[in-house]
Amino acid sequence: MNLRGATALVTGSNRGIGHHFAVELLRRGARVYATARRPELVDVPGAEVLRLDITDQGSVDAAAAVATDVDVLINNGAATGGGSLVSGDLEAIRRVMDTNYYGTLAMIRAFAPVLARNGGGAILNVLSGAAWAAVEGNSAYAAAKSAQWGLTNGVRLELAGQGTLVAGLVPGMVATETMKEFARGAGITLPEDVLIQPDELVRLALDGLEAGDVEILDRLATELKAGLTGPPRALDVRDYAKAG
Ligand SMILES: NC(=O)c1ccc[n+]([C@@H]2O[C@H](COP(=O)([O-])OP(=O)(O)OC[C@H]3O[C@@H](n4cnc5c(N)ncnc54)[C@H](OP(=O)(O)O)[C@@H]3O)[C@@H](O)[C@H]2O)c1
Repeated sequence: MNLRGATALVTGSNRGIGHHFAVELLRRGARVYATARRPELVDVPGAEVLRLDITDQGSVDAAAAVATDVDVLINNGAATGGGSLVSGDLEAIRRVMDTNYYGTLAMIRAFAPVLARNGGGAILNVLSGAAWAAVEGNSAYAAAKSAQWGLTNGVRLELAGQGTLVAGLVPGMVATETMKEFARGAGITLPEDVLIQPDELVRLALDGLEAGDVEILDRLATELKAGLTGPPRALDVRDYAKAG
């Protein structure tokens, strides 16, 4: 699909990967709704800023009622904590599932009719290589990302009839503040060549979307997906730490 002249909506565009999506979509000639729970933190000149909390049905419905010209939906916003499944805080485990799975689903259900009216368009869900490996110290997040991957595959079939392309972006480890904090918390430094920069990831994602790809993987995610043919394994960020 051609992004020039398209109208895109990005969730969680006040920071991290979402901010880069909004900026790069504008650069490619799309109109952009840059949404966030705290719209005052959005810094994307040229975008229309909307308040949007994907776990609040009223907020999701209000966005779908205003942004009626959307033909590209980027489901990026999500909680990335969650902790451990057995010993962690159940509220955090629910929050990570609520945003990644139910929040993404709420957005898709609200915007599917909008996309249909606008000719089909595309949905890009920001998944994670963690969907394909347990993550040491954040197993709840990995499980939520697995659920979001399944959701993406199901919705792709369900929306094919209305001509909506449903794609998944699968990053490995991205150099956002959230990722760096997680690494700091684990007491490690990740070498630059292990991380992909958020602007590079977003260019890869939008190139893939423009080419009509249904799954867009970076290098680490490609490795993790290949590993699915073997026994289940863990993604421990410490394995990627700088030697010495
Ligand atoms: N960084 C990585 O290494 C990596 C790897 C693979 C996949 N991903 C995925 O990439 C996406 C973005 O990650 P990131 O590293 O850019 O994370 P981030 O910097 O922590 O940003 C997360 C964004 O999601 C928003 N958000 C959280 N809960 C929300 C809600 N209920 N409604 C709307 N927005 C909400 C946050 O808003 P607030 O500022 O209000 O909290 C923030 O804007 C996530 O889906 C993540 O799972 C990241």
